[in-house]
Amino acid sequence: MSSNDSIDLILNLTKSLHNFGSNLLLCPYSLLTALSMLIAGSRDKTREELLQVLYSKSLSDKEIVPFLEQIGRKHREFLESHKNVWHQASLVYCRNDVMLDALFARSLSQMFMAQTKQLDFHPNKSGDAVRVINQDVCKETNGRIEQIVSQLDPNFALLLIDAIHFKDIWAKQFEQSKSHMASFRLSDGRTIVETWMMQKTEIFNYCHYESLNVKAIQLPYQSNQKLAMLILLPSNDTGDDDNGDNDNQPKNSAIKTLVNRMNLGHLKAILDEMIATTPQKVELSLPRFKICSTHHQLIEHFRQLGIRSIFDQCQANLSAMLTNVANNNPKLYVSEVIQKAMIEVNEQGTEAMAITKVSVRNKRSAEFIEEMICDRPFMFMIIQSDPLNVLFSGILENPLLS
Ligand SMILES: *[C@@H]1O[C@H](CO)[C@@H](O)[C@H](O)[C@H]1NC(C)=O
Ligand SMILES: *[C@@H]1O[C@H](CO)[C@@H](O)[C@H](O)[C@H]1NC(C)=O
Ligand SMILES: *[C@@H]1O[C@H](CO)[C@@H](O)[C@H](O)[C@H]1NC(C)=O
Repeated sequence: MSSNDSIDLILNLTKSLHNFGSNLLLCPYSLLTALSMLIAGSRDKTREELLQVLYSKSLSDKEIVPFLEQIGRKHREFLESHKNVWHQASLVYCRNDVMLDALFARSLSQMFMAQTKQLDFHPNKSGDAVRVINQDVCKETNGRIEQIVSQLDPNFALLLIDAIHFKDIWAKQFEQSKSHMASFRLSDGRTIVETWMMQKTEIFNYCHYESLNVKAIQLPYQSNQKLAMLILLPSNDTGDDDNGDNDNQPKNSAIKTLVNRMNLGHLKAILDEMIATTPQKVELSLPRFKICSTHHQLIEHFRQLGIRSIFDQCQANLSAMLTNVANNNPKLYVSEVIQKAMIEVNEQGTEAMAITKVSVRNKRSAEFIEEMICDRPFMFMIIQSDPLNVLFSGILENPLLS
């Protein structure tokens, strides 16, 4: 799902989500999958902003379908080549009184291989819907993420959920017996914690990248030589001194400086340098770690990056998502984008999962009740839908006549 065009976005998002002193985990692939599904359902400025920010593209109406097909093809190739270790499910839940536009539904199923379900979001029934969604998500993440929704807003028209589970072992595993407790200095530069450190001396793709003053290493996974964990370690004295000579102000930490400076150019240069350098014997110490992150405020970050109209009740144009059957032209917008992600890294390998949830809401005022008083002649039919059959058809002109 990610292409070169999206890497800077991913790095900017990482920068913008990073809080001093806190761990962070984001699954851009899941986020991009979910947001790319929205491209297929959007029009006008809403679509332009998504394309520009996610893929640095500006496309005409005619170019959209081929572009989405190309994204879909790459996505399927990716899934195919990593199917033993990467499991991804795109799930679309529709409120039972809305109907997906046929073209949008086809894009979802063919390009993103999404599964679609209709559910009752009415408050009295939504317990069942919540259960169905959480069960699906739990299944798709191998039981690791048990709850992504706790209640449903009856104004949600659809929920797009993308779930990923990844599990692979290192091509070169760490020996359990070499792991030991060791010190780890936090980014404030002073606090030292004791942590479980894994150790391995081995030939790795490695380089010292001068421009950012980082050491870089790739730990390949066993399933596929194209999959690896890339670790970038800043030297411990590379923080920016933003505050001139004022020693009372803390220096920017080395990690913050790295995150701020990182971009596509540097990333490519690091990977190129690794290829150019012969693999080296490295004594690697790496803590075992586990991170669980929940990002509730992604909308704010996307706004800053230039995706705006889709989150605005008045400006969003998601008119390619639904056909106007039960709802008279519902006005749709995206009211939340949430991601939960987890990773566990140990001597054997890595297990990670992510869930991205995008809620598409329509402004349907709960107080407003449609009125239909049949106090004049009308036409009626008894029909079967899908396939459509008209079983009875009639006109009532006078209820007193039989
Ligand atoms: C959305 O865009 C389409 C295509 O340009 C346009 O016909 C439609 O009126 C727009 N709808 C809304 C609600 O803005
Ligand atoms: C929903 O539940 C409330 C309270 O239990 C009840 O008053 C209302 O009639 C129910 N509505 C529907 C549509 O079932
Ligand atoms: C950097 O790390 C080395 C070795 O751990 C240590 O001796 C040195 O004091 C550290 N420098 C700073 C600025 O923390």
